[in-house]
Amino acid sequence: MKVTVVGAGAVGASCAEYIAIKDFASEVTLIDIKEGFAEGKAMDLMQCASLNGFDTKITGVTNNYAATAGSDVAVITSGIPRKPGMTREELIGINAGIVKSVSENLIKHSPNVIIIVVSNPMDTMAYLAHKATGLPKNRIIGMGGALDSARFKFRLAEALGCPASDVDGMVIGGHSDTGMVPLIGKAVRNSVKVSEFLSEERMQEVVEATKVGGATLTKLLGTSAWYAPGAAVSAMVQAIALDSKKMFPCSALLEGEYGLNDISIGVPCIIGKNGIEKIVEIELSEAELAKIQESAVGVKATNALLD
Ligand SMILES: NC(=O)c1ccc[n+]([C@@H]2O[C@H](COP(=O)([O-])OP(=O)(O)OC[C@H]3O[C@@H](n4cnc5c(N)ncnc54)[C@H](O)[C@@H]3O)[C@@H](O)[C@H]2O)c1
Repeated sequence: MKVTVVGAGAVGASCAEYIAIKDFASEVTLIDIKEGFAEGKAMDLMQCASLNGFDTKITGVTNNYAATAGSDVAVITSGIPRKPGMTREELIGINAGIVKSVSENLIKHSPNVIIIVVSNPMDTMAYLAHKATGLPKNRIIGMGGALDSARFKFRLAEALGCPASDVDGMVIGGHSDTGMVPLIGKAVRNSVKVSEFLSEERMQEVVEATKVGGATLTKLLGTSAWYAPGAAVSAMVQAIALDSKKMFPCSALLEGEYGLNDISIGVPCIIGKNGIEKIVEIELSEAELAKIQESAVGVKATNALLD
């Protein structure tokens, strides 16, 4: 499998590193517009091969899409990240132009590619990639929910005083501070609902900490995070590579699911060799359904800025 990662910055390089360490791809091509940057990151990562024991070949190129030809999967991380105090939506002006041209360039050289969109505001950028490429809807996947769910599990584990491997939970809805819908009522520790262990107040604290998970890190780091975003993308690429049919909440183009149309937003999806193989319509409580509808209003308002 050949994977292209567009943007060799913090998230792109982290994603390439995790893909290589997991050793399921034959080739990773990093591409960036900054002269020599992707080449440098690729060389640095390749010097880890003997230390970390992987055979994945990582190469880097400056803005040369011919080198991405024949990619099975492409990850778009190009664009600016937010600074402390900024919302993801404020990035749209610069990132929309970048995501549009990058996705058009990618399909010219890899007509069968599955694109994973990471650049923010992610749901709107995934929607834009659909419009710009006209690819079938299973082949454009927005990454946000996999990361937000990992942050949810981190907060749940913290509240429960247990390892994250003991908990399960999912975040659906828009990938924004106000749009995320952590499904606290469905979260479990092994098979036991977390409400058996945590007070209503503590569960609400977990929900709120999850929703501002990205902003909390941006404040601490001065820019947005990269390890967990890179790990989340690599897990999705792995599910495609291994055709594992894993379920992740992904930003998918909806056509009536959850009562929504003409929007890309986070919903549970089965991921396999064809990208999004199924959108899973889980039963939501009235309150959860109202929250995802409200979240969709926010995403559509950001989409309207594309016009
Ligand atoms: N969806 C998510 O869950 C999630 C999580 C974290 C970050 N992000 C987003 O991912 C994006 C990247 O974040 P980062 O921290 O890696 O930023 P970064 O600044 O470290 O890296 C971005 C890279 O993109 C490159 N770039 C810019 N325009 C380009 C173009 N036209 N073609 C190729 N490369 C180009 C830049 O040179 C830079 O190296 C941001 O928009 C950020 O908000 C999304």
